[in-house]
Amino acid sequence: MIYKKWLRPLLFRFDAEKVHNLAAKGLNNPIFRAGKQSLSALKQKPNPVQVMGLSFPNRLGMAAGFDKNGDYIHGLAALGFGFIETGTVTPKAQEGNPKPRLFRLPQDKAVINRMGFNNKGVHYLRANLEKRPPGVIIGGNIGKNKVTPNEQAVDDYVYCLNELRECVDYFTINISSPNTPDLRQLQDRAPLHRLLNRLQEVNAGFNRPRPLLVKIAPDMDKAYLDDVLEVLTENKITGIIATNTTVTRDGLRSSSQLIQENGGLSGRPLEKKSNEMIAYIRAHGSLTIIGVGGVFTGADMVAKIKAGAHLVQMYTGLIYEGPLAVRRILDYVNDRSEFNR
Ligand SMILES: Cc1cc2nc3c(=O)[nH]c(=O)nc-3n(C[C@H](O)[C@H](O)[C@H](O)COP(=O)(O)O)c2cc1C
Repeated sequence: MIYKKWLRPLLFRFDAEKVHNLAAKGLNNPIFRAGKQSLSALKQKPNPVQVMGLSFPNRLGMAAGFDKNGDYIHGLAALGFGFIETGTVTPKAQEGNPKPRLFRLPQDKAVINRMGFNNKGVHYLRANLEKRPPGVIIGGNIGKNKVTPNEQAVDDYVYCLNELRECVDYFTINISSPNTPDLRQLQDRAPLHRLLNRLQEVNAGFNRPRPLLVKIAPDMDKAYLDDVLEVLTENKITGIIATNTTVTRDGLRSSSQLIQENGGLSGRPLEKKSNEMIAYIRAHGSLTIIGVGGVFTGADMVAKIKAGAHLVQMYTGLIYEGPLAVRRILDYVNDRSEFNR
């Protein structure tokens, strides 16, 4: 509990994005990695799981957005994550929104971000992924540049798909960030069909087509979600990531000034909504589900698997619980024999 008692109060006194960058760099420090790896090797019971034709060392992954450029894969793998979703990456490098753009809401165990797909571009990510360590499952989360109008968005996604085709194990098509203007309109039936149809066509031409997943927003009603599920199934999409951050602000306790910050809310307040969507998706089709939203503890991960998730991801939980949370969560799940399949 050193993290929560000593380190977190200290870190939370500084700007959220600066601390994030510092912590991420720390993960790649060779001393930290060596220590973590030997600790992980001692404790880790191998518990591989087959999903989407891939063998995952375990079911817990790093959600998209933490390692947008593939700079921290070694460090994240050393923490114990079974897979790492890099991105969201866009064809060209872009700055993202003006700072500050990342806000902590400790009273709600939540974060609001409006990063806006700041990333170094798909070529930079590709160069990093070509040096990836063996045995780590990598997702490539792809998006469009801010300057690309929605009518030409397909070209951006196709570009990223082509660039990364040899160096990721699965793709995530991100159409649900609230921080790129109008991006979520790509979830509408007609543009979604056009996008997925084209991406599957390109994917089918690869030597080894990759599983395609679509990451959705939590902010949609059942009828809209039914439409999305239908389009995904029609286009033989392998899976769905539920969910991205929410633009809603229900039931928060933080100051109204914080709550009013524009952007996507993640963490504890997202958990219920995310789990409800996972359960609904599981009951209405056969898509592979990666569940994300408000995972802080082993019990939270179990709740997602019980709701119907095949794999689970986390982001905000890492900010609040610290890097050792990954091992704690996996140990908790490993100790429950019903999840050791
Ligand atoms: C600072 C920050 C940046 C994020 N960036 C991305 C991103 O680039 N692409 C994406 O698909 N999701 C992104 N997300 C969303 C997370 O991947 C995840 O879906 C969401 O935060 C809910 O999970 P959590 O409650 O465990 O954080 C980001 C989240 C945060 C907090």
